Amino acid sequence: FTAPRIVTCDPATATTANPLGAIDDGAIAVDEHGRFSFVGSRADAPRGLRTIALGGVVLPGLVDAHTHAAWVGSRHDEYAMRMAGCDYRDIAARGGGIVASQRAIAEVDTEAVARVLEARLRRMASLGVTTVEVKSGYGLVPELELRQLRAIAQARADGSLPHVVPTFLGLHALPKEMRDDRDAYVARVVGELLPRVAAEGLARYVDAYVDANAFTTAEAKGLGVAARGLGLDVRLHVGQFADVGGAELSAELGAHSADHLENVGAKGVLALASAGVFAGLLPLASFTLGQAPPDVAALRAAGVRLVVASDANPGTASTESLPLALAFAVRSYGLSPDEALLGATQNAAESLGLGASKGRIRVGYDADFAAFDLPHEIGVVQPFGVARTRLVVREGHALHGTLA
Ligand code: NIG
Ligand code: FE
Repeated sequence: FTAPRIVTCDPATATTANPLGAIDDGAIAVDEHGRFSFVGSRADAPRGLRTIALGGVVLPGLVDAHTHAAWVGSRHDEYAMRMAGCDYRDIAARGGGIVASQRAIAEVDTEAVARVLEARLRRMASLGVTTVEVKSGYGLVPELELRQLRAIAQARADGSLPHVVPTFLGLHALPKEMRDDRDAYVARVVGELLPRVAAEGLARYVDAYVDANAFTTAEAKGLGVAARGLGLDVRLHVGQFADVGGAELSAELGAHSADHLENVGAKGVLALASAGVFAGLLPLASFTLGQAPPDVAALRAAGVRLVVASDANPGTASTESLPLALAFAVRSYGLSPDEALLGATQNAAESLGLGASKGRIRVGYDADFAAFDLPHEIGVVQPFGVARTRLVVREGHALHGTLA
């Protein structure tokens, strides 16, 4: 493949003057294993291969490191309430929120969840996304969490979709019937469901919603410690509404990522920095909720590495678009275009434990890339709101567009 501009997002190619390692008039080659076998300038490219000339700018396939994409149903009624000024308490009083999505999961079977997820992942691919982390967390009770996780496993097995990283979001909300029995609920998740999820290989990560109206640090710690013991890694929802010490817990648990952070203070930021935890920024959630951004300047100054993700979910980020999240990360969170793009490529892949195979255009890495019909990578973070991709490739195979 040749292209007027190839943005590798590879630190080995990057320089201070060229932080994304962009190559003008570049070429990439893909081997029979679906990996990059050449990355460089067109003049140096190996001869004798079939060549496809791509216009525009080529980036690593985008990596969406925080989604709840296995949801079914719609919560548009709740969106209208929210826009009219109701808060989560009003919405909960009318049966809305996470439990509304639980009811939707209860009404369908695994196959139906898988079909909805697959269609959603295809639309994500059309926007340039080749890897998606997908959380459970709308089942709440064992049977329904397993339904979501099995649907996620089906999508993961399908090579014609983006690569899926499955996360067991074990502590998201209390099911209605256990609202007054939280200790028993947490004990069941940690003691019964988690070992089953691990034994069946249904998750790579666990997650918990650590916040004032969700789960405590002690509850999340129990889940995280047990998960580590079973070979799973941890990512957490932290400080979306209140700073209850979730960032410090992320550091203590060696979590790969602490996400949201709208209400995390200086102490939490330093904890993330000292433990090398990635900060997952979710600007479409704070946009929907009308919240102020996290303290990005403090995160940056402390050296915390930034990830930008969609948070795709039916309640607080009704989106399927990582590029839209990048646009908001730049406009509302003040990230530079380069920071935003690294947060959806190299840093996102590293936060998912895929730093040795994805998120960069580099020889030996998976040949995951997106060719945009745009002259420059800055165009990718402008708020187009439509797909600007011409070709999206995962491991050498087209997810969107054709290799003609
Ligand atoms: O990431 N904060 C908790 N979880 C989701 C929203 C869940 C929902 O409302 O369905 C989030 O914003
Ligand atoms: Fe989330």
